Amino acid sequence: MIKLMDDLSEQQNMMIECDPLQDAVENSKPEKCISTCKVLLLNGSPHTNGCTSTALNEMIKIFDLENIETEMIHVGSMDIKECIACDKCTELNKCYFDDVVNELAYKFEASAGIVVGSPVYYASPTGVIMSVMNRLFYSTHFSKQMKIGASVICGGRGDNTSAFDMLNKYFYISGMPIASATYCNQVHGTYKDDGTLYISGLHTTRNLARNMSFMIKAFANGRDKFGFPSIEK
Ligand SMILES: Cc1cc2nc3c(=O)[nH]c(=O)nc-3n(C[C@H](O)[C@H](O)[C@H](O)COP(=O)(O)O)c2cc1C
Repeated sequence: MIKLMDDLSEQQNMMIECDPLQDAVENSKPEKCISTCKVLLLNGSPHTNGCTSTALNEMIKIFDLENIETEMIHVGSMDIKECIACDKCTELNKCYFDDVVNELAYKFEASAGIVVGSPVYYASPTGVIMSVMNRLFYSTHFSKQMKIGASVICGGRGDNTSAFDMLNKYFYISGMPIASATYCNQVHGTYKDDGTLYISGLHTTRNLARNMSFMIKAFANGRDKFGFPSIEK
């Protein structure tokens, strides 16, 4: 069972007291997106029903309201190899290890944005999500320019920010604008003795999904109107 904690600041509580999903319906006028209007979400946690997946599912609710297609892949529970720097991807145009990362590459190419979620493990994202991101970004040669990136971190302490930075670097190295929210995109979950998961900060992920939805639609319009900027090699 998942409950919102009520020990949030006054401002955060105000945001939670309103009905966020209803607000999203009233405040936005979702228009059917162009075919690329899809978001790929990666859960880097080994828990398919933990805090990170809860945060990502909260975003999916907003994307649904915004008519944005989504697909979530729980990579954190998979056995995924690290990049071995063989550089075979240069000739193969895909990773030498023909596993889920090559499937993700197709999905990522067809998406207008990607959300990467991870628990904080010793101030870093999980090892598996780092392996996925290293291989996904290194082995794919399609343009990621103007695809929207967002990361969500799940943990409890100040060291969350370094994990957050590590995930965001994949985006700004690749010409991908980063969606932001109303705080560092983090949630904090606590399991009580009865197994109930209390989770705070979900309003941040909802705001993140709203901002990301807007960016995806605005960038699609901008591309049609102005074209994307040229890139010097
Ligand atoms: C190996 C390990 C290291 C962790 N290190 C940190 C940490 O440095 N900071 C923190 O806030 N939480 C840390 N945690 C707690 C997890 O980030 C926290 O339990 C998270 O909510 C789990 O998310 P999930 O339910 O999606 O798996 C650690 C947990 C594990 C298993």
